[in-house]
Amino acid sequence: MARSSATFVCQSCGAVHNKWSGRCDACGGWNTITEEAAPAPAGGGARKPSKGRAFALEGLKTDDAEPARRATGVGEFDRVCGGGLVPGSALLVGGDPGVGKSTLILQALAAYAKAGGSAVYISGEEAMAQVRLRAGRMGLAEAPVALGSATCIEDILTTLDKGKTPGIVAIDSIQTIWTSALEAAPGTIAQVRTSSFDLVRYAKATGAAVILVGHVTKDGQIAGPKAVEHLVDAVLYFEGERGHQFRILRAVKNRFGPTDEIGVFEMTGRGLAEVANPSALFLGDRDSASPGTAVFAGIEGTRPLLVEIQALVAEAGYGSPRRAVVGWDAGRLAMILAVLDSRGGLGVSAHDVYLNVAGGLKIGEPAADLAAAAALVSSFAGLPLPRDTVYFGEISLTGDIRPAPQAELRLKEAAKLGFSAAVVPQDTRCEGAGLKLKTVRNVGELLEFAGAPRGKSART
Ligand code: TYD
Ligand code: MG
Repeated sequence: MARSSATFVCQSCGAVHNKWSGRCDACGGWNTITEEAAPAPAGGGARKPSKGRAFALEGLKTDDAEPARRATGVGEFDRVCGGGLVPGSALLVGGDPGVGKSTLILQALAAYAKAGGSAVYISGEEAMAQVRLRAGRMGLAEAPVALGSATCIEDILTTLDKGKTPGIVAIDSIQTIWTSALEAAPGTIAQVRTSSFDLVRYAKATGAAVILVGHVTKDGQIAGPKAVEHLVDAVLYFEGERGHQFRILRAVKNRFGPTDEIGVFEMTGRGLAEVANPSALFLGDRDSASPGTAVFAGIEGTRPLLVEIQALVAEAGYGSPRRAVVGWDAGRLAMILAVLDSRGGLGVSAHDVYLNVAGGLKIGEPAADLAAAAALVSSFAGLPLPRDTVYFGEISLTGDIRPAPQAELRLKEAAKLGFSAAVVPQDTRCEGAGLKLKTVRNVGELLEFAGAPRGKSART
């Protein structure tokens, strides 16, 4: 089939079209399609297909031990990677501009180099002087990191090939890297894809661990997202709410480890500090005994995490009531409100409702339902909940409270932080945590516990 020399490529998802259109059929993005001169098959220029050569197929069994991981020494980072970087692997670290990606990577490289590893940091965004200034401010100027400032992939690979293979190479950021083999402008999907592919190939060929830094676009995707995400072995997102100094590193894909781990950092004047006990951080200011707050005993990855959930239920003004939620799913809030109304008879549906997760954390666990419901009920009734109590459990549409996994881990963390009671689903067992357990079977029992009045709208 003859191919035209120009193709139209979606800059968001990488889909190739043979004519321009305003909307990409593949991802639905508007105005994302641009013309690119040469078609860019992964790995470089178009070649004539050669005659195939047979290769041996082998079994799954191996005598090789698990590869020794390269731990950087930044504990939270290593844990999210699954215990350190795997030799020959490629890792993508994505995040909004300014969230602290460069800071994190520089710290990880410096720690690795200080412990005797060889680390290379290639900055495509900042000049050498800027990186040095930052390193100086963070007290890392003495770390033997090899620093370079370059954007051309051929220059980078030639430089890397010259010396001994480094243990870790970081490229900051992948959007600035371009190859002279393509006419497309730097930052276009063809350039990002080709450069990433070359770097991944370099990692596989030499055994160096490669870290790619990538920016996230407005709608929360790494620019040129799918094209890079499937190339690399692991994808980590670095996120933080504006106005909070906490930063959370989250694995969204990991071929060598779990994807539900999070690492918690705090941005300080001297770089990122690891937060060893994140529960203390997300508990907010627990001194006030005001209505509308409940502590959720959650699990993030392998770690228990206590977070304060705050709710405000207020008389609605004109029109339809307002619902606003930060750190939780808006659909989930609507569901909980509906269940509280129709199963518990709370009568909250005509009120404005605001829900906030303290500390800028985002919660995805269904087990947070019970804590959110408790906070809502407490605010609606104007009665504070007992201060020494944590909550967890999933609420079903029938109004029943369903059990949550790893109850013991949650309760032990709560006990460690000085809580003395927990409101939990039925059949929750816990030996040795020393907490007083109050089991609730349905939202009606929760309302009773919180001392809330049952409204007229009760349909049960
Ligand atoms: P940076 O790592 O440059 O972000 P990214 O690479 O993700 O774009 O971090 C930028 C922000 O971090 C900047 O707004 C200032 C802040 N910062 C500190 O607060 N303390 C520090 O020690 C450093 C290095 C940065
Ligand atoms: Mg940066």
